[in-house]
Order: sequence, then C-alpha cells, then structure tokens
Amino acid sequence: MADRFLEVTDLEVKYGDIQVIWKESFYVDRGEIIAIVGSNGTGKTTTVSACAGLIHPCGGSIKVAGTEMAGQTARKYIDQGVTLVPEGRQLFPEMTVLENLEMGCTSKEARAKKKESLEKVFAWFPKLKDRAKQLAGSLSGGEQQMVAFSRGMMQLPRLLIMDEPSLGLAPNIVDNIFAISKSIAQDEGLSIILVEQDVRKALKVADRGYVIENGRITIQGSSQQLLNDPEVKKAYLGF
Ligand SMILES: Nc1ncnc2c1ncn2[C@@H]1O[C@H](COP(=O)(O)OP(=O)(O)OP(=O)(O)O)[C@@H](O)[C@H]1O
Ligand SMILES: [Mg+2]
Repeated sequence: MADRFLEVTDLEVKYGDIQVIWKESFYVDRGEIIAIVGSNGTGKTTTVSACAGLIHPCGGSIKVAGTEMAGQTARKYIDQGVTLVPEGRQLFPEMTVLENLEMGCTSKEARAKKKESLEKVFAWFPKLKDRAKQLAGSLSGGEQQMVAFSRGMMQLPRLLIMDEPSLGLAPNIVDNIFAISKSIAQDEGLSIILVEQDVRKALKVADRGYVIENGRITIQGSSQQLLNDPEVKKAYLGF
C-alpha cells in the first residue's frame, strides 16, 4: 500500500437533521497534494472540517496515519498532524503578525521548534518579517493569507488543509503560495488538501482531484484527467 496519510471512507455528515455529506471516500498520500473542488454550498468546507475534527461525522471512517479518528476532538487531530487553514483566514486582527504566527504553536513540539519555524516562514515570505510587529488586521488580503498559511505551518503539520486560500487574492500571490506549498510537499513530504474555487489553478498544483456535487464525490482522478474531463471543463473551466 502507498504511504497513506489520510483515508476517509463513506463519510456522512449532518447539521441537525439535515444531511449534507453522503458516502464520501477519498485519500491523501504522504507528500501528495489533492484538490477538492465544487460549486458554492456543495459541502467542501463541511468535508474538510470533518477531516480536522471540527465537525463530527454521523457515519464513516477517518483514518489519520492508520489511526481511526472519527469522533475524536479537534485537539487530537492536531496532535496527529492535521492542521486546517480556515476559509476566510480568521486571523486575530488586533494582534501582530508575530503574535498570530506564535498562536500556531499549540503543541509542545511546535513551541520547542518555534524559532526554527519562524525562520522558515520568514524565508518563504520575507514581507512578513518586515511586518512582524504590524497588526494583522492592517495587512492586505494577500499578506493575511500568507500569515494564515504560515500560522498553519507553525503547527508542524503533516497534513495541511487549506480552505479557499485564493479567495479575493491577486493571481501572483496565489501562485506564490501554491509554489511554496508544492515545494514543501516535495521536499518535506507534507500532504496537502486544497479546497478551491479556482479549479484550473488548483489542478495545476495538485496531483489528483475530487469534484464534490451536492455532498457527494462525483468525479475523481489525476489532475490531468480532470483538466481533460468534458464535464469538469464545462462546469468549472468555462469551456
Ligand atoms: N453550521 C451549519 N449549520 C447548518 N447547515 C450548514 C452549516 N454549515 C454549512 N451548512 C450547509 O451545508 C451545506 C454545505 O456547506 P459548505 O459550507 O460545506 O459548502 P462549501 O462547498 O464549502 O461552500 P462554499 O464554496 O460557499 O464555501 C450547505 O447547504 C450549507 O448551507
Ligand atoms: Mg466553503
């Protein structure tokens, strides 16, 4: 078997009585980037929130590095190496860039490696070093996304889940964050789940992808297969 980091089988999620996810199965290997794409309200955030322990599924299995995690607390998921960079970034606007980054060090190991992690972050995004003492709320959208990504990396994840990182950002900033993500995946074996509206960009950086429609995975395959899939082209690539 491949070096599987996350394996989700027959995931089902309800909000109250309303079921929004049905029988989703997908996986992420070590060092692999997968894209999860789909229209608004189709269940992408719900799916990845379940994978980070923020929502408890009503059915199915979520294995992280071989350990069954369904029903465990978000804290346990973090300890197993799963970190979510949430939709809308959710920084602490009244805290500085540095303080926001330090908030990512919630485990003993992450705290012990804080200095090293900060050096890495500032090498990826030199701009953040210049802005370390600036309030996060006063940063541009692109800079805030750099902080959100970096705060996630301060946690020393083995799987980083990014929910719509490109939303509202200039293309070159998105390209930069994706290029850095790709090199970390390749060099350090980080696994990445990328939830994206920008399907073309996501599939260019990802190894494989899944399309979610109305709470179900309807199309899956290598990024190349999806980019050439007539339905994906028509629904998400605009031709
Ligand atoms: N906290 C909640 N309580 C009840 N229903 C919810 C809740 N969060 C999401 N939903 C519903 O679940 C469905 C899936 O929502 P979700 O946020 O997962 O979609 P999404 O694919 O991430 O959408 P978007 O692209 O707009 O971010 C939607 O119908 C939404 O209204
Ligand atoms: Mg969403």
